[in-house]
Amino acid sequence: MSGEHEDEHSAAEETVVRRDRFSGGPARSFLSSLADDERIFAADIAVDRAHVVMLADQECIERETAGEILAALADIESAGHGQLPDGEDVHEAIESAVIERVGPEGGKMHTARSRNDEVAACIRYRMRADVLELIETVVEAREQLLAVAEAHTETVMPGYTHLQPAQPTTVAHWIASYEQALQRDTARLLDAYDRVNQNPLGSAAFAGTPVDIDRERTAELLGFESVLENSMDASATRDFLVEVTGAVATLATTLSGLAEDVVVMASKGHVELDDDYASTSSIMPQKKNPDTMELVRGRTGDATAGLNGLLTNLKGQPRAYNRDLQRAGRHAWDAIDSVTESVAVATGAVTTADWPAEALERAAADGFSTATGVADLLAMAGVPFRTAHELVASAATVTDSADGEPTSSASDSDAPDYETLDAVTQDVLGDSLSAYVERSAVEAALDPTESVAMRDSRGGPAPDAVVAQLSAASDTLSDDEATLSTRRDAVESASDRLQTEVDRYA
Ligand code: ARG
Repeated sequence: MSGEHEDEHSAAEETVVRRDRFSGGPARSFLSSLADDERIFAADIAVDRAHVVMLADQECIERETAGEILAALADIESAGHGQLPDGEDVHEAIESAVIERVGPEGGKMHTARSRNDEVAACIRYRMRADVLELIETVVEAREQLLAVAEAHTETVMPGYTHLQPAQPTTVAHWIASYEQALQRDTARLLDAYDRVNQNPLGSAAFAGTPVDIDRERTAELLGFESVLENSMDASATRDFLVEVTGAVATLATTLSGLAEDVVVMASKGHVELDDDYASTSSIMPQKKNPDTMELVRGRTGDATAGLNGLLTNLKGQPRAYNRDLQRAGRHAWDAIDSVTESVAVATGAVTTADWPAEALERAAADGFSTATGVADLLAMAGVPFRTAHELVASAATVTDSADGEPTSSASDSDAPDYETLDAVTQDVLGDSLSAYVERSAVEAALDPTESVAMRDSRGGPAPDAVVAQLSAASDTLSDDEATLSTRRDAVESASDRLQTEVDRYA
């Protein structure tokens, strides 16, 4: 442990819990999680309070003793984590601090529990807050992305497959595609939340207790929605951390795609990031680099590393508690902290960016990106789609050869003109193009903006279709906001309930 803890609290040595077993061998700091446990300090105080109130309610400890322990906890809470006496972990240190203040009777706090169920409860209590904060960040991101999308339903841009120009789309359609993914990321986090928010307390080491405890009561006081049924499972499992970290890693993967898109767009001049979200080079004064988005992309590694680290920690751990578990939580915290920041930064970069409409529209025609639309027209006129596909491909080849360009040139914006398409149609179908489609329709299909407007199937990029998507997305967003505030309210009223109970002892 840190010297600070040892020096400050040497006077307390006499009352340090189980001091004989944790007495300063070479592995002392290796064993201790006290510094890392700062994250669950407040959670541990809450868990201690709920446990003590329940024990007194159940007449397992005297009300007077409960009152003294609760007063000591209030004092320990205001002193803060840094003032705790030395200990293997925050649970032991807080217990020592209670005993310092109350005397041996303070040791009744640990009646009918173990650090195993205690730490599981603390992790769940704290993780619950972290997941809610992340969900809130994602929900806010969705709201902001939808607002940008609404402003850009008519901003035509190139859409890519294999990083090659594929078909024209709009900035709104592209942004809405990420909002949909973030919708599912929100759903995964909300789902994981419900399994985080369960009560392991009262499982003791793993084998329950002969003491007449009430696990429903501690669940109620801590705002846990349900009680984990089997005491061995309750103290051992960390699968809830896997669920959260899995959802976080999936979210990070969503963000990494968005980030990569923006990096590529910035390199082509298809987006201009606000200076707040760009960086420059220390040597090349002309550079404006999309560093924020590269870091968002890079932080995906933090999340997948967290998931990998967590699963590796948990793999093959036998029932019930093993000390390996002390190293499990950090993977989940690292992942969630890193990605929560990423969400906010990625959203800020996208919402403050400038989308140069003219450059985007020009680029939207690159590489004969309207080819599919011409084939679609012929297919709608009754030509088998495969034949139409081959016909348009031949027209593209004719145009490319005439240009002297290789057919694979990705940046060739030259689409075949009507005459070329007509000539090829006569070759392939033995009839002129106008026998199938009006010239004006072909010319419209060759125009990127018209091409977008034609693709009005449900979910497609046509402005009306996107407006419908955005409206559905904003309904789902309102539902998610309501779910989030229900979860938050439940946590807050539990915390008020616990405070009211504690105050009755003051
Ligand atoms: N600091 C420990 C952890 O985080 C608490 C549980 C200790 N339990 C035990 N049996 N050694 O997991």
